[in-house]
Amino acid sequence: MRRYIGLAFAVVLAVAIAFGMRYMLGQQTASRSGGVGQVTIGGPFTLVNQDGKTVTDKDFRGRYMLVYFGYTFCPDVCPTSLATIADALDMIGKKADKVVPILITIDPERDTPAALKAYVPNFYPRLVGLSGSAAQIKAVAKEYRVYYARVDSESKDGNYLMDHSAITYLMGPDGKYVTHFSHGVKAEDMAKKLNSIL
Ligand code: NI
Repeated sequence: MRRYIGLAFAVVLAVAIAFGMRYMLGQQTASRSGGVGQVTIGGPFTLVNQDGKTVTDKDFRGRYMLVYFGYTFCPDVCPTSLATIADALDMIGKKADKVVPILITIDPERDTPAALKAYVPNFYPRLVGLSGSAAQIKAVAKEYRVYYARVDSESKDGNYLMDHSAITYLMGPDGKYVTHFSHGVKAEDMAKKLNSIL
């Protein structure tokens, strides 16, 4: 009889250990997949390109996206950032083919697809300009944790400025965040980093 009790105890112990290990492995898998405590940048979007065509984030899969949020009326910050992106892409030669540079407007009221079409080629021939409804822009800005707000000034001509974050995001061929560049980064430094990643 004692033998059977001992055996039963051993079986219970083995089952308990097996469950415990499964639990721990489960926990590990959960943290590896990034569910806990990680800030995700980027995500799905539906917007309209400079040709008036509806595009989603999935249309860019397989290539890196270099994403910048700005607006065409921006007096200096956006032109500087877009020129830096263009210079950096010129510096990495053939590797630039793997990258789609994208300007997403945070001023869809004035930045219609037509306005973007006139604007983007001034910086880079392949620069994609994306606009959309106010709700679509709000959604994509939230995904990328981009801040923007209209600055109401006293200007008589009805023009206004937009306040906005000026970070350039590099997203991978799977659409996931890879790295970002702060405003003021030198084109040489952006090129160097792109070269090491691509
Ligand atoms: Ni700007």
